[in-house]
Amino acid sequence: MMIRHLISSWDRLAETDALWAILTSDEKAGSKWSEDEFFATGVADVEAVLARLKDLGVPPEPQRALDFGCGVGRLTRALAPHFQAVDGVDVSGAMIEKAGQIRAVPSNVRFLHNPRPNLAAFSRERYSLILSLISLQHVPERIALAYVGDLCGLLADGGVAYLQMITFLDTRNAAAAEKLRRDESPATHVYRAVASVFRRPPPRMETFYCRLSKIAEVLERGRVRLVAVLPDASVPAPFVSHVLVFEKPASRA
Ligand SMILES: C[S@@+](CC[C@H](N)C(=O)[O-])C[C@H]1O[C@@H](n2cnc3c(N)ncnc32)[C@H](O)[C@@H]1O
Repeated sequence: MMIRHLISSWDRLAETDALWAILTSDEKAGSKWSEDEFFATGVADVEAVLARLKDLGVPPEPQRALDFGCGVGRLTRALAPHFQAVDGVDVSGAMIEKAGQIRAVPSNVRFLHNPRPNLAAFSRERYSLILSLISLQHVPERIALAYVGDLCGLLADGGVAYLQMITFLDTRNAAAAEKLRRDESPATHVYRAVASVFRRPPPRMETFYCRLSKIAEVLERGRVRLVAVLPDASVPAPFVSHVLVFEKPASRA
């Protein structure tokens, strides 16, 4: 999958019902999220992340935070009271546009569009916290690993990253096996190609997993210290999700 397919899907999802595309649930389909309720979930998630990092003995310094795959800023805005400056970055220009329009942007927050399969444009930035929830799971493994490698380089000395990723698809689960068989069969590919000639296919919110062994290799190359691999129940079976917590050791002068 190419980055332009990701961009086009997420732009269309943002234009259709951005809040539901970010937090999907049957009862919120059809623009049923109230904005206050939606952003309150971000506050609760950020409080939980900061409490977990404190418990792990790696509370981030309050300088700069990055929210990777920020959508409309559900988490970015919730980080703002805890940090001097916060950047939210997203591959979708439509999400970034919505993030700026949906409500006033706090003065210490920037929403940045990065339509690339890497974070080269950020190479001069350094962050004391890098957070990513329910975003890397929508990026194919090869590109997700490239982002994780780049994120290692964006940590300030002593900075900490908290990345949620799907790490396994349990194909012993009958429903998962059937879904895979249908999604990946040659007939499905031919059907999609033919259908796209006659009508624009609906945007697909695809989900990918990234092997823990591959992530570990990237972290090792990135010279970060793995603090914890936490089981994460936010994604239902047959997916298996983890949170990777890692830090860039403070350099000794
Ligand atoms: C389910 S939403 C989650 C948004 C936000 N993390 C939150 O928890 O509210 C997934 C977001 O990831 C973004 N995304 C997908 N692929 C991306 C990529 N390659 N780089 C950055 N963002 C990406 C999508 O545009 C979308 O805004």
